[in-house]
Amino acid sequence: MIKKNSANIQSSEITDPQIYRERRRFIRNASALLVAGMAAAGLPSRRAQAGYGGQPVTGIKPSPFSTGETPTSYKDITSYNNFYEFGTDKKSPALLSDSLKPRPWSVTVEGEVSHPGNYALEDILKGQPMEERIYRMRCVEGWSMVIPWVGFPLSGLIKRFEPTSRAKYVEFQTLFDPDQMPGQKRDVLEWPYIEGLRMDEAMHPLTILAAGLYGEVLPNQNGAPLRLVVPWKYGFKGIKSIVKIRFLERQPRSSWMRSAPHEYGFYANVNPQVSHPRWSQRRERRIGEFRKRKTLLFNGYAEQVAHLYQGMDLTKNF
Ligand code: MTE
Repeated sequence: MIKKNSANIQSSEITDPQIYRERRRFIRNASALLVAGMAAAGLPSRRAQAGYGGQPVTGIKPSPFSTGETPTSYKDITSYNNFYEFGTDKKSPALLSDSLKPRPWSVTVEGEVSHPGNYALEDILKGQPMEERIYRMRCVEGWSMVIPWVGFPLSGLIKRFEPTSRAKYVEFQTLFDPDQMPGQKRDVLEWPYIEGLRMDEAMHPLTILAAGLYGEVLPNQNGAPLRLVVPWKYGFKGIKSIVKIRFLERQPRSSWMRSAPHEYGFYANVNPQVSHPRWSQRRERRIGEFRKRKTLLFNGYAEQVAHLYQGMDLTKNF
């Protein structure tokens, strides 16, 4: 990224939950064996997770929105991260995010909304239909992953808060606490991290808040306890460790727009036709694979989301 100082889903795309569980069991067993092997060899066996990560989440239902592609390994998903609050390199979040305390946690809801307030995490999660959503995720830097998120549609939560008719956008903020997030002691970005969506994007059925991955509670480095997932947009839209949701009449300015407006627009839709000034967006490398593959418009979710942008010039609204 930047460094200032330094559902019309084809049935063939839907994973049979049984197949997926088998696959997951296989992957987990393989890594358990690896950990056991490392312990036997006297090597440190610290798993790449922090906080409450690793605890099982119960009552998860499969989703027809899941892709049938093979999920990236748990290890890669939890040890190759962008989370600048814990440093700007990919390994730091897994190594340094133990200082984040994801419980107790609360989310403040403000702005153009009938039910503003400070909601406990348990209250936010209560009654939400927890689903497994296996999504393709693509980073603007040119790599991609397939992540089995555990989460629920953002739309249901938004409806609970009853936005007013003036609410056209939703802004999200990450925790600001340099003691818990030591990367915030350096001004590589304007803190707190801010992202936003247009209301129809936020209400889209593909947009979820994730509280877990691989059937388990979200590890700190992936944005515990609650983070946004918008699979047709570049990864930086997926703001982590959310403490505030604001309903606004005006389009919010995200942290990336503030730091480099000519490089990062508000929409950030995955688009192979529109290059980032420093990285072509035509192809991508799936983590764990060698050969590059073509990047798809809206990350392959065009059938479901293209209508949101009809009539918009996507070279200007990048
Ligand atoms: N959220 C916060 N608060 N801080 C960040 O630095 N990085 C973003 C996004 N959310 C970031 C963030 C970027 S650039 C990416 S690619 C994704 O998180 C990475 O999410 P992952 O580590 O779970 O794959």
